[in-house]
Order: sequence, then structure tokens, then C-alpha cells
Amino acid sequence: MLKTSKTRPFPTIPNPTDRVRVVRKIDGMAGIARELKRSGKRIGLVPTMGFLHEGHLSLMKCARPKCDILIVSIYVNPTQFSPGEDLSGYPRDFERDEALCERVGVDIIFYPPDTEMYPDGFQTEVSVKELSRNLCGKSRPTHFDGVTTVVAKLFNIVLPDIAVFGRKDAQQAAIIRRMVLDMNFPVEIIVSPIVREPDGLAMSSRNKYLSTEERRAAPVLHESLRMAKSAIESGKYAFPGPVIEMMKDRIIGSGPFEIDYIEIVNPDDLSTVEKFESGGEVLIALAVKIGGTRLIDNIEIGT
Ligand code: PAF
Repeated sequence: MLKTSKTRPFPTIPNPTDRVRVVRKIDGMAGIARELKRSGKRIGLVPTMGFLHEGHLSLMKCARPKCDILIVSIYVNPTQFSPGEDLSGYPRDFERDEALCERVGVDIIFYPPDTEMYPDGFQTEVSVKELSRNLCGKSRPTHFDGVTTVVAKLFNIVLPDIAVFGRKDAQQAAIIRRMVLDMNFPVEIIVSPIVREPDGLAMSSRNKYLSTEERRAAPVLHESLRMAKSAIESGKYAFPGPVIEMMKDRIIGSGPFEIDYIEIVNPDDLSTVEKFESGGEVLIALAVKIGGTRLIDNIEIGT
């Protein structure tokens, strides 16, 4: 059962042994946030779509010591699903999520329904134009507009001093940073490392969709990234093309994969790297479909 503001006053100090408080209304959440700010508390936000795994918990653990009050939002945001993507089938388990949040010392879960986030008449969109169009934006052209719109709303409601995002969604993190800069949100964006299964597969709520055979094959994505990292670090390759071809061969040779993209880009502005320059940083990002499941992964490399 959900708790309301009547059952527990908002926490003034983090208390991992106490129960997490769940807030469903925007007015309620915004009121608490304003009160916390007035009393000088530092608010940390971890935005999620729920169905939490160790990757999400690592974001919360990263945020916990950096703020007084840790707020996790759980909201399966419909506007970031492209036509044809299965919004209704997206995995959800609020009670489990609530227990996990409690375990890592979250103070408040903001868990709004669609009617709160997108009431009748809603028509505004926040769009980071260029960064949202390459990499994942090519096959999911409306996805990041949905992400930036909902994250801008969350920032306005929760008033975080810091917000933590995962490096697995490197493009999302770059886009959010740009939005914060462009729109003057007073929020520090922290990007936390990818958490992997013991065999290297990046943790994702989507891994649950993989069949046994697909799951067995999936670690090749990380293997191909590591192989590319060694190749680039060896200094034998001046241009990205042959490295990308090597990765493609490795992935395609390992199972029923369909490559959406493998690209080597500048980690800040996501522009294509034409040539490896010594002393620079590059991001190798990929999206690959296994059966019906689209997985993303990436690695950052010093050249
Ligand atoms: O990364 C996610 O889970 C989502 O894109 C986010 C940031 C919670 C926005 O819905």
C-alpha cells in the first residue's frame, strides 16, 4: 500500500532503517522539495523507469553520500517510447522496487501516474536538437525528446542539486548535460559507471527479454568493445573504419545479431571521429538487436 504525507513527515535526515516515503502527486512532491530547499537540504535525484537492478542501485549508492535527501523517481515515461515499441509490456514491479530503494537508503520515491505527468492538454516538448538525432536517435527519432521533456519536468518538480545518470546510456547523459547547460537548470549532472554481469553484459531491464540462447551470446557485445579498446590502444590503427569492421565481424559471427549501429564518436558532442588523435578521448557506442531485444553498450577510451 502506498504511504501518504499523513503517515510520515518528510525526512530531515537520511535514515536507511526507516521506510521510504512514496509520493504520487506533483503538488505534494514539489511542496516537499521547496520545503527541503528552504531548510537548506541538498537534494539528490536518480530518475528511473523502475524494474530496478544493480545498475540502478549503483546510481543510488553514488548519489547517497552526495546529498541530504535522496529522491528516486519511478515513472515509465510513455513519450520516450517510439511507435511500435511495447510500452504496455515494459516490465514493472513497484513493490520490489520499493524494497530495493529502502535497502540503499532512499528517502522518497516519486511515483507519479500518467495523469499527473501528462494531463489533458499537455503539448510542450523539450528537444536537444542535434545530439538527439545521431546514434540511437537515427532509429528512434522521437525517443530523446521524450527523455528530455520528462527529465526537465522532474528537475522542475524535485528541484535536485545533483542528478545521477548511468554511463550505459552515454548519449542520454550527453543530451541531459547539454539541456542543463542550455536551459540553465541549477543541477549538477553526475554520470556513474556501467554495472556489468560477471560475464560482461551491461545490466539492463531489457536483459529479461533475452532467451537462454540469446543471453548466452549477448556478452559478445562487451567483448567486441574490449577488443576495439585494445586495438586502438595498441596504436596500430589510425582510422576508426577497420576497428568498426572488426567489431561487426566478431558480433555477427557469434549469433543471431542485427547491428543497428557501431560508431566511434567524441564523448562530449557525439560527433564522428574521423581519425584517432593521440591524447584524445573517444566513445565507442553500439546498439544491436538480438531477437526482438535491442541492447546498447559503450566504452570510453583514451587514444
Ligand atoms: O534512463 C532512463 O531510465 C530514462 O530514460 C529516464 C532518464 C528515467 C527518463 O525517463
